[in-house]
Amino acid sequence: ELGYFTYDAGFTSTASCKSRVTYIDGDNGVLLYRGYPIEQLAEKSSFLEVSYLLLHGELPNKAELDQFVSSVTNHTMLNESLKDFFDGFHYNAHPMAMLTGVVGSLSAFYHGELDINDPNNRELTAHRVIAKMPTIAAAAYKHLVGEPFVYPRNDLSYSGNLLNMLFSRPTEKYEVNPVAERALDQLLILHADHEQNASTSTVRLAGSTGTNPFAAIAAGCAALWGPAHGGANEAVLNMLNEIGDVSNVPKFIEKAKDKNDPFRLMGFGHRVYKNFDPRATIIRKTCHEVLEELGVGKDPQLELAMELEDIALQDDYFVERKLYPNVDFYSGIIYRALGIPTEFFTVLFALGRTPGWLAQWMEMVNDPEQRIGRPRQLYTGAAKRDYTPVDQRG
Ligand code: SDX
Repeated sequence: ELGYFTYDAGFTSTASCKSRVTYIDGDNGVLLYRGYPIEQLAEKSSFLEVSYLLLHGELPNKAELDQFVSSVTNHTMLNESLKDFFDGFHYNAHPMAMLTGVVGSLSAFYHGELDINDPNNRELTAHRVIAKMPTIAAAAYKHLVGEPFVYPRNDLSYSGNLLNMLFSRPTEKYEVNPVAERALDQLLILHADHEQNASTSTVRLAGSTGTNPFAAIAAGCAALWGPAHGGANEAVLNMLNEIGDVSNVPKFIEKAKDKNDPFRLMGFGHRVYKNFDPRATIIRKTCHEVLEELGVGKDPQLELAMELEDIALQDDYFVERKLYPNVDFYSGIIYRALGIPTEFFTVLFALGRTPGWLAQWMEMVNDPEQRIGRPRQLYTGAAKRDYTPVDQRG
């Protein structure tokens, strides 16, 4: 007797909500935010404009955009006592551990505005989270490299400020490189939402209990960290290092196909895209442009990645299972060209995904059909039996 519920391991065919935020056509590689194609947004928009679009459903007019940017910009500072929080982390703590912990801790600083039934609180908190995530991320980075924290600068763009907080040092003059700034902004746009992926579903499930959004976003960060999800961008670079040389690619392709070997091609495959991931197509192109414009020249890891892609895409195993490079396959190569260490890649995915998490959370809170998320199960354990005292057990 297993019970009478529909069994759908991994939720491959269960819609957990109705949503107006993001549309994906996995067979045809289509991704729309609020109806706008990802290709157009990546080329023409900015990350904060896309954040507004996701949160509010429409592109902002000039006054609305100015007001939104000003509000986000004016919430970038962290409470000074959070410095002590970072001091408590081990010197080599993973930045995702710090991000997850610190973003959750923000709820301790805004007691008065945690009532999510008030729409003003919801909006204010969304601005705060979008504004403070880069400051927390950069502080985690500085903790990692052992340098003093850099305060946010309100005269810079969202991505320019992030680069400045990451790379400027008190002893040197640092100018934000516009090519790096635009590339980072574009990557954040590409990561901004992806309907009911694992981390977004986690944010919704946590949020469905009525918990505050800082706590729900912390839950999203925790879910994103895994190598099957946002942690794949870090895993791709580690995998390319492990492969080492183009001549080793066939051997690793065979390992990825071997069901007795845990090795899988990181950055390959997707639950929904069964033709191509449109974000990977954009990132692949940007990757070549950025390397050229930054004067990095030929990157052996990019060559290796392209060779791996070429061989995998001609292999029956990958063709039959419709396994293509996903968003994480090439993004790490761009991040590395920007000087970002591998263990920081997933943090950038989290920054990009933040407006999507918030937009989905807001939609859920506003949904009159919303109920606490509570999946059922098919019970496969022991039937009812009687307790025996320990001295009578065999
Ligand atoms: C993201 O959901 C989203 O929208 C996520 C995301 C977002 O923006 O939020 O797009 C971001 O998470 C991208 C995915 C990053 N993860 C990776 O790159 C890790 C490697 N990929 C796999 O772990 C996997 O493909 C998943 C997790 C992405 C998808 O898993 P599914 O849908 O459960 O598919 P599956 O594991 O059941 O795979 C189907 C078949 C299996 O073979 P068979 O049992 O049928 O013989 O394909 C095989 C798998 O073993 N397979 C792979 C493979 N991915 C799937 N074989 C080798 N290498 C791989 N990468």
